Amino acid sequence: MPSISHKGQLMPESPIRKLVPYAEEAKKKGVNVIHLNIGQPDIKTPQVALDAVKNNTLEVLAYSRTEGSETYREKLAAYYAKNDIHVSAKDIIVTTGGSEALAFTMSTVADNDDEIIIPEPFYANYNGFATAVGVKVVPVISHIDSNFALPPIEEFEKLITPRTKAILICNPGNPTGYLYTREEIKKLAQIVKKHDLFLIADEVYREFTYDGKEHYSILQEEGLENHAIVVDSVSKRYSMCGARIGCLVSKNETITKTALKFAQARLSPPTYAQIASEAALETPQSYFDQVKEEYVGRRDLLIQELKKIEGVKIGVPQGAFYCIVELPIDDSDAFAQWLLEEFRLDNETVMVAPAAGFYASEGYGKNQVRIAYVLDKENLKKAVHILKEGLASYIG
Ligand SMILES: Cc1ncc(COP(=O)(O)O)c(C=O)c1O
Repeated sequence: MPSISHKGQLMPESPIRKLVPYAEEAKKKGVNVIHLNIGQPDIKTPQVALDAVKNNTLEVLAYSRTEGSETYREKLAAYYAKNDIHVSAKDIIVTTGGSEALAFTMSTVADNDDEIIIPEPFYANYNGFATAVGVKVVPVISHIDSNFALPPIEEFEKLITPRTKAILICNPGNPTGYLYTREEIKKLAQIVKKHDLFLIADEVYREFTYDGKEHYSILQEEGLENHAIVVDSVSKRYSMCGARIGCLVSKNETITKTALKFAQARLSPPTYAQIASEAALETPQSYFDQVKEEYVGRRDLLIQELKKIEGVKIGVPQGAFYCIVELPIDDSDAFAQWLLEEFRLDNETVMVAPAAGFYASEGYGKNQVRIAYVLDKENLKKAVHILKEGLASYIG
């Protein structure tokens, strides 16, 4: 058989999806598997977005412009202005999900073997995108004991080499739920300016901030116009993961012009989904208020229930809808698989994401799992109870 690429061999499996076959096997046997592993919200998509597609009278489902439809990008610029982010339509390239924006960004700023520094634990697919474009992820560790705050600036500076092209942050963070303060963003701004690097911020969870805390975007930071690139998405904001619409935003014209060439190669983002996403911008504030209240309630319940489990350490999320949980075990991959294959409580079990895949540093996260609190409170409470019983049975 002809051999596959080296890159293909290096491509990491998603820690969120790799245990799916075990979950499917359990389901085939009639077991109810409660999913704490994946960030697929159960929140309803805004009706305006669904109606826009339903009531549409398109006769030809044509390609759109490569950079996304003009009206959508103009309305997106107005959405950003409401968030005190002042960009225009020309600074925005609509992409097929935030995922594609990440891939375009990495390809735009880095060559093979160039380096991007990322605080870990980080969204696991950063590893995948980096491998696909040949970029090396250089992790800088953040710790559960400090709730995953920005690592000290000296830790970043120690890692900067002639091959470093960018620092990438996720704010608010998946999988940590950490929300960077304005001061932390300012510190990052100073480093990237000092070392002439790009600062990439994945802000797909912008709206999901709790406890009265406000999101501060890198695009709000003055003097960062040539450095800042934001990755964004409608997936979580409007519970529209299946739309596959995101965008890349930068005031640096060389960045957008270059990213546009990568975008041209894939022709255009999906047309119907842009119609839905444009309409979603009309979503009333009351929708977000309700959604936020729901997530805060879920987070509080999750933390309260997890704290009842002996030996458990939790990073308290201030945003997004994930948290990293340290368990009294030494191999969360084996434990997560065991829950799916062996453990049943009244014919139910839970699926969690082993956290090692959210780290690039070897050996980290092995006693941690990521939990997504995307279930209603009743199911969430039940899921933590099953996890508790499973853990007791596992460690004996
Ligand atoms: C931090 C983060 N960035 C990007 C994405 C990609 O989202 P999408 O491609 O659905 O827009 C996700 C999805 O879960 C995410 O959690």
